[in-house]
Amino acid sequence: MSDANDSTPKVLLVTGASSGIGEATARMAVADGWQVVLAARSADKLQALVEDLGVDNAMAITVDVTDYEDQVAMVETILKHYGRLDAVFANAGTGGEPGGFSGAPVASWETMVNVNILGAAYTMRATLDTLKQHQGHLLLTGSVAGRRTLAGSMYSATKWAVSAMGYGVREELRGTGVRVTLIEPGPVDTPFFDEPMENSLRPEDVARTVLFALSQPKSVDIHELMVLPTPALDKQD
Ligand SMILES: NC(=O)c1ccc[n+]([C@@H]2O[C@H](COP(=O)([O-])OP(=O)(O)OC[C@H]3O[C@@H](n4cnc5c(N)ncnc54)[C@H](OP(=O)(O)O)[C@@H]3O)[C@@H](O)[C@H]2O)c1
Repeated sequence: MSDANDSTPKVLLVTGASSGIGEATARMAVADGWQVVLAARSADKLQALVEDLGVDNAMAITVDVTDYEDQVAMVETILKHYGRLDAVFANAGTGGEPGGFSGAPVASWETMVNVNILGAAYTMRATLDTLKQHQGHLLLTGSVAGRRTLAGSMYSATKWAVSAMGYGVREELRGTGVRVTLIEPGPVDTPFFDEPMENSLRPEDVARTVLFALSQPKSVDIHELMVLPTPALDKQD
């Protein structure tokens, strides 16, 4: 449960809530007693999810995370509506295009830097004052690609930046009571990929790790959770 001693449900903001990991996390959080704020650009998908989850449990805010003012306005709307913000899952992200550092279109790099790095940084900047007031919890979707070397991958570079931001902000927040968790999935079968993924996690597998981190007592600070699919069984002759 979100909090056994507090009768008011806690509020979780999920960016990138319109599909994949964010959507699965929002669904699981509501089932666990949280009120959720669903943020992404696709207003129609967010609205459908609110209707599914119930207007008492969820609200939708259309936001482009690359726009800092948009994110500031989002937090104002949350505080006006719920009067609190206890946890933030900065999860919005996007992938790149093939070609590596020798050949990928540079526009795809710009988009990834803007969404994956700056978008998450803006989410932190817009929410940290409030999280400090509530001794809240910040979670960032990094990736196994942000902890290992991937050949020619600007995506990996952006996720290394997310790992670095997670480590850096945790030190900045030392003594405030705010906890910081990096969620580092391996391949997850979501619309992030054009084709269905073999031997991958389901979005719910990652959502469970988010809820695991969120459900710890305030004295327990989960720094990072790397979650990978179990390797496929060896083929027998
Ligand atoms: N799938 C994987 O294998 C995998 C593995 C490790 C880490 N991750 C990370 O997990 C996170 C979620 O990805 P996913 O796999 O769930 O993919 P997804 O289903 O494509 O979800 C991406 C989410 O990010 C949102 N988003 C993208 N650009 C945005 C922007 N400018 N402003 C606001 N929202 C934006 C999308 O919503 P709108 O398009 O509606 O804005 C969508 O809700 C990403 O950070 C990704 O890098 C994924």
